[in-house]
Amino acid sequence: MKRNTYNVDEELKTRFNLRYLLRILRYALPYKAAFITAFVTILSIVALSMLRPLVNEYIIDKLLPNPDYRAFTVIIVVLLALSVAEIVGAVVQSTLLNRAGYKIVYQIRNDVFKVLQDLDFDFYDNRPAGKIVVRATSYIDELATFFAAHLVNMLVNVLKLIILLAFIYLYEWHLAVVTTCTVIPIFLFITLMRKLLNKRLFKLRNADSNRAAFITENVAGHMVIKSFNRKDLNLKIYMDDVFEPSKQRWHAFLRVNNLFGPGLELLWNIGTIALLATSFFLIGSQTVGITLGTVVAFMSYTAMFSEPITVISGAFQQLSNVSSYVERIFELMDTVPKIRNKQGAEDVTYIRGDVSFENVAFSYDGETNILENFNFTANAGQSIALVGATGAGKTTVVNLINRFYDVTDGAVKIDGKDVRDFTLHSLRSRVGVMLQDSFIFRGSVMENIRYGKADATDEECIAAAKLIHADEFIEKMPRGYHTKLSENGVGLSQGEKQLINFARIILKNPSVLILDEATSSIDTDTERKIQEALNTVLKGRTSFIIAHRLSTIKECDCILYIGNKGILERGTHEELLEKNGLYAALTNAH
Ligand SMILES: Nc1ncnc2c1ncn2[C@@H]1O[C@H](COP(=O)(O)OP(=O)(O)O)[C@@H](O)[C@H]1O
Ligand SMILES: [Mg+2]
Repeated sequence: MKRNTYNVDEELKTRFNLRYLLRILRYALPYKAAFITAFVTILSIVALSMLRPLVNEYIIDKLLPNPDYRAFTVIIVVLLALSVAEIVGAVVQSTLLNRAGYKIVYQIRNDVFKVLQDLDFDFYDNRPAGKIVVRATSYIDELATFFAAHLVNMLVNVLKLIILLAFIYLYEWHLAVVTTCTVIPIFLFITLMRKLLNKRLFKLRNADSNRAAFITENVAGHMVIKSFNRKDLNLKIYMDDVFEPSKQRWHAFLRVNNLFGPGLELLWNIGTIALLATSFFLIGSQTVGITLGTVVAFMSYTAMFSEPITVISGAFQQLSNVSSYVERIFELMDTVPKIRNKQGAEDVTYIRGDVSFENVAFSYDGETNILENFNFTANAGQSIALVGATGAGKTTVVNLINRFYDVTDGAVKIDGKDVRDFTLHSLRSRVGVMLQDSFIFRGSVMENIRYGKADATDEECIAAAKLIHADEFIEKMPRGYHTKLSENGVGLSQGEKQLINFARIILKNPSVLILDEATSSIDTDTERKIQEALNTVLKGRTSFIIAHRLSTIKECDCILYIGNKGILERGTHEELLEKNGLYAALTNAH
């Protein structure tokens, strides 16, 4: 997926891609029994329905001239039985196909979700969340329809078309020629129309995806939207940039669609008239001599072409639709995370906690470096504070340690080993990060604390919360640790969210602890208590602390002043004060 926003269409190749189709069919393989049974069932229904015109012919030509009521009764019973068999068959095949379609899509959904979980920060940085969601939901739904409604039906109808053609030629070839001459232009007409419709449908779908991106952004940012009085402006943007293109594309689609029905009807009518005229001529002819019953039966057979033609061309349309969805889905599935386990990566259970940056350079976009020639070593157990202006690169530095991003050049090493030589799982289970904006998930306080260590007991969770004095506010909540929290912790203060996140990290018990402005929203009083707790918490762990409050920084073994793509000053609080440089200026400002 290329970088885009809500008002830029996703790129799309509309060409039908056989490779993708085969890949999708591989998902269907486990359900071949269901597909085959459905195929046979539908085929039987088709075969039965082809008997009807013959019965009619018999009635018209044989029974009506000399009525035989016993034969008549038999025929009525047969017709009724046919109807019942058709209905039963229809129910059986649709149940089988819907179930198989659902299961296939279920599998694809799982696979897509798995991929979404693995994708890099980089991937999410560059795409509107709404478009990712559309891919993972609506596009996959379309696939389900394809499997449930189109795939088998298409195969059956191709077969039906062939059988019908063969049958009418054997039955009465003069009329069959006329029918063929009617059916071919109709088929071409439908195919052409579908093609035109499809093009417009793609554009329409893109508009849908853009709309999803815009709406998702508006839902996520609803508080800012309200507080900045953006309601009317956003509505205008929605109407002009999102809704209007969608409306125009819808009209373009309708313009073609409106021609479809009448055009088709006209062609069928011409065909029927041609057939009638030919029949009229043939009935009168001495050499061919067909009966009225044959003409009526033939009319019925010609009408039977309508279904396979519509179904086949519809399935083709759905196929090319689906192949474009499939393309987007597979593109998503095939996105290889840049940050992944390298071959032979080591799965360690223990990390001592020496962390070093060796000639590290880093760039988000591959153009401008945020860090250059960054060198630093922290020994196991040391606490390192990072200070510096907003945007200096503090978060960037710590995000390299557990590989949220990989260095552009140089290496970050833990215990002397490149972080890229560890498996991601073992690295991240030993390095704990409290992000600048951590997330609260829907669930209880307890579940949120337990998030990083699913097997922790309640007691362990509570102990972790107690350690950083989070229990004081948690106990005051209506149901204490069992209070339900909503997504992103709506209803909690920023500081309360940070405390819960803090407890989550403490529980995980990492060897290397990264606190990125972990206490920025916590009041000074609580922070002082946390500070005391930190002395215990940090013991034996290497820690990187990004903070603004002097009290938090002062105690650290080493302070790094980040700026100008590197470290401008380094040393203990006292050393840096003595130096009377940038850090001293910063502390004086406090
Ligand atoms: N995901 C990102 N993509 C591109 N640029 C980024 C990204 N995150 C941060 N930056 C840029 O990198 C620089 C350093 O950011 P950051 O490390 O977050 O600063 P700090 O934490 O010191 O405030 C800033 O100029 C910021 O704009
Ligand atoms: Mg930051």
